[in-house]
Amino acid sequence: MLDGPSDDLDLAGRINFDRPQSARVWNALLMGKDNFEADRRAVEEIVKVDPGMPHYARQCRAFLVRTVRFLAAEAGIRQFLDIGTGLPTAQNTHEVAQAVAPESTIVYVDNDPLVLLHARALLTNTTPEGLSTYVEADVREPETIIAAARNVLDFTRPIAVMLLGILGHATDDYPTMRRILDRLMGPVPSGSYLVLLDGARTEDKVYLDAIVRCAEVGHPYHLRTPRQLEACFQDLELVEPGLVPVNRWRPDPPGSDIDPPCNAYGGVGLKP
Ligand SMILES: C[S@@+](CC[C@H](N)C(=O)[O-])C[C@H]1O[C@@H](n2cnc3c(N)ncnc32)[C@H](O)[C@@H]1O
Repeated sequence: MLDGPSDDLDLAGRINFDRPQSARVWNALLMGKDNFEADRRAVEEIVKVDPGMPHYARQCRAFLVRTVRFLAAEAGIRQFLDIGTGLPTAQNTHEVAQAVAPESTIVYVDNDPLVLLHARALLTNTTPEGLSTYVEADVREPETIIAAARNVLDFTRPIAVMLLGILGHATDDYPTMRRILDRLMGPVPSGSYLVLLDGARTEDKVYLDAIVRCAEVGHPYHLRTPRQLEACFQDLELVEPGLVPVNRWRPDPPGSDIDPPCNAYGGVGLKP
């Protein structure tokens, strides 16, 4: 976990200004201010191909809010392991969870130095009863994440493991993706949940062309088919409505999902 100003200097020195970075591109798509010229140029190119991309990003954030609210309010979850946190924005995981249950504990995980710099300032701003903290780790090293999380979370009580828009960055290899999920979900107890959101290989040619453009501008994302994403829940009980375009997951208010189906798919699964 982070500690002291020397960490800040070290982190600042590791920021790559020349190439687009996932967290900053995501921030630019969400109209945030924590991004650089390289990220904005990448977004410009991607949006030229598919002008719907910023809208998908907002739909993904709305999915995060609805799933965390469901977990805190309806499923009684009080511990969250949010891997691939992104740069702080409105309604971060701890804010949504602690608005329902102030005692909630959140461990954020990311490997981007700018995310880590912002994390100390913003994400650790928590309720007096709760806790939110930060781990620098790569999702491709699940054991490191679990070991760090054990310092904060109680692994005898249910935990929501959240992977939203990260695994398409982390690996192009589907079996590797499945192994990462198994190694993260293996140590958490019965009653825990997986929240997964990923770009899906749909039939939408404009979107698929934009994903090709992403790779061309140095920001590759590896899509899985909806069937492959659904199979990630095979040892879990998928919560209704299952794995669906994210704007179709329990829209709030019900019936407000009038937009076409989003190309990002998401779901929530209970570990029996
Ligand atoms: C598209 S953003 C999604 C942010 C947030 N989960 C959300 O849904 O708004 C992906 C995040 O995953 C992080 N990330 C990408 N690859 C990673 C890796 N191998 N290990 C840890 N974090 C990673 C990026 O730094 C970025 O913050």
